[in-house]
Amino acid sequence: MQLTDPKGRINTLTLQAGKQWHGHKGWIQHDEIIGRPEGIVVRSTGGIDYLIFRPLLQDFAVRMPRGAAVVYPKDAGQIVAMADIFPGAKVVEAGAGSGALSCFLLRAVGEHGSLSSYERREDFAEVARKNVEKFFGGPHPSWKLTVGSVEDAIAETEVDRIVLDMLAPWECLDAMAKALVPGGLICCYVATTTQMSRVVEGLREQGSFAEPYAFETLVRSWHVEGLAVRPDHRMIGHTGFLVTARRLADGVTPPLRRRRPAKGAYPETAPAELTPGNDNTVVTTPPDVTESESLIGSPEA
Ligand SMILES: C[S@@+](CC[C@H](N)C(=O)[O-])C[C@H]1O[C@@H](n2cnc3c(N)ncnc32)[C@H](O)[C@@H]1O
Repeated sequence: MQLTDPKGRINTLTLQAGKQWHGHKGWIQHDEIIGRPEGIVVRSTGGIDYLIFRPLLQDFAVRMPRGAAVVYPKDAGQIVAMADIFPGAKVVEAGAGSGALSCFLLRAVGEHGSLSSYERREDFAEVARKNVEKFFGGPHPSWKLTVGSVEDAIAETEVDRIVLDMLAPWECLDAMAKALVPGGLICCYVATTTQMSRVVEGLREQGSFAEPYAFETLVRSWHVEGLAVRPDHRMIGHTGFLVTARRLADGVTPPLRRRRPAKGAYPETAPAELTPGNDNTVVTTPPDVTESESLIGSPEA
C-alpha cells in the first residue's frame, strides 16, 4: 500500500495483520487498513492524515529495488505506443535490468502474448525477476527471462516487436533482424546522442530496416492552485532517446529518399556515396512529415 502525507511524501508498505507502520509522527496499525477500500484516510497516533492507495505501476517502477537504472514511466508509455506493443504480441526485450520495462510490456502483451526478456547479468536478472513477480503477485504466464547476451542467446523467431535498452544496441542488429518478422519493429532506448547516432546509422547500414525514426519526450508537470498556474520549477530534463525502425521483407531495399545530407553531416573520409556535394549522392533521411512535425508544423531540420 502507498501512504501519502499532507506534504505529498509517499511511503510504501506491505500489509500484515497485527503489525504497525511507524511514520515520522506516530504510527498506524496495519489492521486499520486491511479489509478496507482504497482511497481512505487513516490518521496516525501523532495526528497526521495519510491517504491510502495501492501503488500504480508508475509508482512501483520508480520505487522498486534497482540493479540497473530503470526506464521511466514517461518513456515506458512512449515505448508501448511507438513500438506498437499490442495484446497477443510476441515481444523480445533486452536488457531486462531491474524489470521495470518488463512490467509495462507484460501488461501490454497480456496473457495471450509473450515477452521474452534477456539480461546478461545474473544479479540484475534476479532483481528483475523479483520485481516482476512482486508486481504481478507471482510468475507472469507470458514471461520468460533468460540470462545471457541477447545477440547470442536469442531463441525466438517470427518476433513482432523487439525493445532494446542497453549500452550498445547496434552490436545486436544482425541477430535482431533475423528474429523479426517482416513488418516487425525494433525500438532502441539509449541515453546519449552518440548512442542514438550509432544506432540510427547502424540500422541504416544493417540493410534489413526501413528508415529509422529518432525522438525524445519531455514531460513538464504543472502547479495549479488558484491563480498560481505555472509549470513546476523542477522537471526531469533528460532520460533517453528512442529510435524505432520497421523490418523489411527479406531481399528488399527500401526506396531511397532523394535528399542530400546537410553539409558536414558526414566526415570528409566517409564513403563517396555519403559525401555531400557528390552529384550522385543518394542517402536516406527521415520521413518528410512525421506525426510530431505535422502537429507542431515545424520544418524538418
Ligand atoms: C539500463 S538497464 C535496463 C533497464 C530496464 N529496461 C528496466 O526498465 O529496468 C540495461 C541492462 O542491459 C543489460 N545488457 C547490456 N547489454 C546486453 C546484451 N547484449 N544482452 C542482454 N542484456 C544486456 C545490462 O546488464 C543492464 O542490466
